[in-house]
Amino acid sequence: MKKLLVAAAVMTVSTASFATDGKALFQQKGCTACHQAAAETVGPSLKKIAAAYAGKEADLIKFLKGEGKAIVDPSKEAIMKPQINTTKAMKDDELKALAQYMLSNK
Ligand code: HEC
Repeated sequence: MKKLLVAAAVMTVSTASFATDGKALFQQKGCTACHQAAAETVGPSLKKIAAAYAGKEADLIKFLKGEGKAIVDPSKEAIMKPQINTTKAMKDDELKALAQYMLSNK
């Protein structure tokens, strides 16, 4: 019983930190498969995304909710589109943390 309680406590703590840790969310949701910090891979680098969305956190969140248009590399929008299903399902505070992490990659 004691063991169970400890496990539950640990889980609560880690869930709480994930919700506000944009970097962890970015890794956890599989975004790193196509987005690196500074290198262009399948998708644009975080640096490029941060430059395009500088001062436009609200627009970035809109894009992640599927309400915005691609402005970084519209010719490859078809590759990014299915990923929106993942971000659309995320909570507002998670999306905010995710957006802030991406924008911090200057
Ligand atoms: C299968 C590869 C792939 C994965 C996985 C992926 N992306 Fe992308 N992403 C792309 C490509 C390609 C583009 C360029 C097209 C575009 O600009 O929309 C892009 C563009 C973007 C953009 C720029 C949007 C714009 O205005 O042009 C953002 C923001 C973004 N991705 C966030 C994410 C996040 C957050 C995740 C994780 C949930 C993620 N991506 C996962 C391939 C991917």
